[in-house]
Amino acid sequence: MRDKIVAGNWKMNNDLAETEDLLSKIKLEWEGTEGVRVIVAPSFTNLHHAFESLRDTQVEVAAQNMNQHENGAYTGEVSAKMLTSIGIKTVILGHSERRAIFKETDEVLAEKVNTALKNDMEVIFCCGEELKERKNNDHFEVVKGQLENGLFHISEEALEKVVVAYEPVWAIGTGETASPEQAQEMHAFIRKSIEEKYGKDKAAEVAILYGGSVKPSNAKEIFAKEDVDGGLVGGASLKAEDFLAIARAFN
Ligand code: G3H
Repeated sequence: MRDKIVAGNWKMNNDLAETEDLLSKIKLEWEGTEGVRVIVAPSFTNLHHAFESLRDTQVEVAAQNMNQHENGAYTGEVSAKMLTSIGIKTVILGHSERRAIFKETDEVLAEKVNTALKNDMEVIFCCGEELKERKNNDHFEVVKGQLENGLFHISEEALEKVVVAYEPVWAIGTGETASPEQAQEMHAFIRKSIEEKYGKDKAAEVAILYGGSVKPSNAKEIFAKEDVDGGLVGGASLKAEDFLAIARAFN
């Protein structure tokens, strides 16, 4: 059985006091559910605090990004070793904001994936098309390209450390969500693509999350779809009540 996962990507939100406040609410209210992983991804500066604060709880901590190099003259960057040394074992890579705003290419992402895996980290690998690509009916091709160029070079064994997050860019922070049918259609396509590369058994084990305006009001319907194994949540992860309502939305 695949894990169900709800991951909160806090993006560039929450200072230390706000982080403490949100974490204390999440800790208090999340009772833990068998088979459901709840992950929060605060900013780099609050990761250490979050990890210590959530020690011995059912809530995990992930980083939102990391550099592809092991160390060196890369001013302002954070390495895999820096993350693992404070207990962070999961990293989100290839978020559309990293791709669009910070110009991260598939090639750079492939290197980041390698570095994360080499450091025994779990990767939440994001993919997703822009609005014009969907309108042109290029969305399957775009997503397949992102997977092939950024992820599919890894070994079958390494795939066990990968979660895929499908996030249509047009649904991120816009209030517009992909319909459950649109999400399922793409998730089934992603699983099929993984199957073609790694085989049916391996593909069946990969959790595929949906991201893009997931809210308490739509999570249940989206998560009910066969190939949707949870969500990567932005805006709604900043309120403990909403985030945990989403984490409770599995049937
Ligand atoms: O990583 C999360 C996604 O970008 C979704 O963000 O839930 O605010 O649309 P959103």
